[in-house]
Amino acid sequence: MRMYDIIQKKRNGNELTKEEIDFFVNGYTDGTIPDYQVSALLMAIYFQKMNKRETADLTMAMVNSGDILDLNAIEGIKVDKHSTGGVGDTTTMVLGPLVASLGIPVAKMSGRGLGHTGGTIDKLESFPGFSMDLSKDKFIENVNKHKIALAAQTGNLAPADKKLYALRDVTATVDNVSLIASSIMSKKIAAGADAIVLDVKVGEGAFMKDIESARYLAKEMVEIGKNVGRKTVAIISDMDEPLGYGIGNALEVKEAIDTLKGNGPKDLEELCLTLGSYMVVLAGKANTVDEAKELLIKNIENGKALDKFKEFVEAQGGDSLLIDNPEKLLDAKYIIPVVSKKEGYINKIHAEKVGLIAMELGAGRATKEATIDLSVGIVLHKKKGDYVRSGDILAEIYSNDKLKGDKAVEDLLNNYEIQQGENVSKTLIYDVITE
Ligand code: URA
Ligand code: CA
Repeated sequence: MRMYDIIQKKRNGNELTKEEIDFFVNGYTDGTIPDYQVSALLMAIYFQKMNKRETADLTMAMVNSGDILDLNAIEGIKVDKHSTGGVGDTTTMVLGPLVASLGIPVAKMSGRGLGHTGGTIDKLESFPGFSMDLSKDKFIENVNKHKIALAAQTGNLAPADKKLYALRDVTATVDNVSLIASSIMSKKIAAGADAIVLDVKVGEGAFMKDIESARYLAKEMVEIGKNVGRKTVAIISDMDEPLGYGIGNALEVKEAIDTLKGNGPKDLEELCLTLGSYMVVLAGKANTVDEAKELLIKNIENGKALDKFKEFVEAQGGDSLLIDNPEKLLDAKYIIPVVSKKEGYINKIHAEKVGLIAMELGAGRATKEATIDLSVGIVLHKKKGDYVRSGDILAEIYSNDKLKGDKAVEDLLNNYEIQQGENVSKTLIYDVITE
């Protein structure tokens, strides 16, 4: 088999066999096929697309390129959740303890990654002492005992995806549905999930800018799940404005705590309850999503969800007293208000730009080596659809650097669109895609 022929076949719009897909994935992973040939193939895939069978085969080729986490020693059905990424998305930190409080095993491997804010791992490091360096045995023991554990990704999960994603990033071939779907699903499958709930974001702050592309991506991933024996559900949710109010690491920890207490932002709470309900149903703990939702609401109201968060933080060495006093997490030197100069309805908050402003404040990493500042970020006070007057506070900037803070105030002001006249309508959950 020759890589040249595979490139030519796809360039001409033909379907690749499983053997051809395995050949290029394995060859790229072990370094026998060079970047330039894989780049050409990716561009051919970008234009000619892959069908569902090719996409499922690509997914499994990437899964099989490295270790597959064996979580059979964990009792129960392990349901993983994945978000395609947005701005100020605090759902993982809420869903973990919330779902675990119903006795459902949450075995999460997380990475640090790049982005507007840190990953879940970074955020939880807001708790002094918290450690993600669990051995595999300890990880499994913790999940069996506490129903929840979070470990920094160990082992060599889907290394082909790692290499391919990096190459796509520099060859303008990221935004192809088959490539995105297989990339995401390969990581979830390699991480040992029995069932998967996907949060596919749509809007300005997401990969998928319109509902039709989001639905297409969602269907593709649900189909992969079906083809490889993992029950998968995808929720299509709004990312036209940031989720919740907080964007930043400690700020989102505080927001997660508020939500677990039942005092969180309504959009974040609703999304968590929706994603959580499907997780509960897939885990076999409820027959319907309505029944599942009631169970989740009950555990927020009776305090079990918050207690589970404390138990989890303590089990991994963190100081859980901060959960009772989350304000103590917020120790940025400057808190600068962003004041509206206009009157009217907010019809847009440019989500992606807001994410970048948080990153410039130090909340996220632009490069893998960058360090992040857990205490900085943005708290939105007004969101889409709110009516504001001149002089009202739209948001607050949390910064440890006065100049950066002042610049963020200006930038954020420029990314609120305020108009006279009609209010805009907004939707949080657009669709649910099941098998
Ligand atoms: N997230 C991933 O993990 N892979 C993609 O290709 C896109 C988003
Ligand atoms: Ca948030």
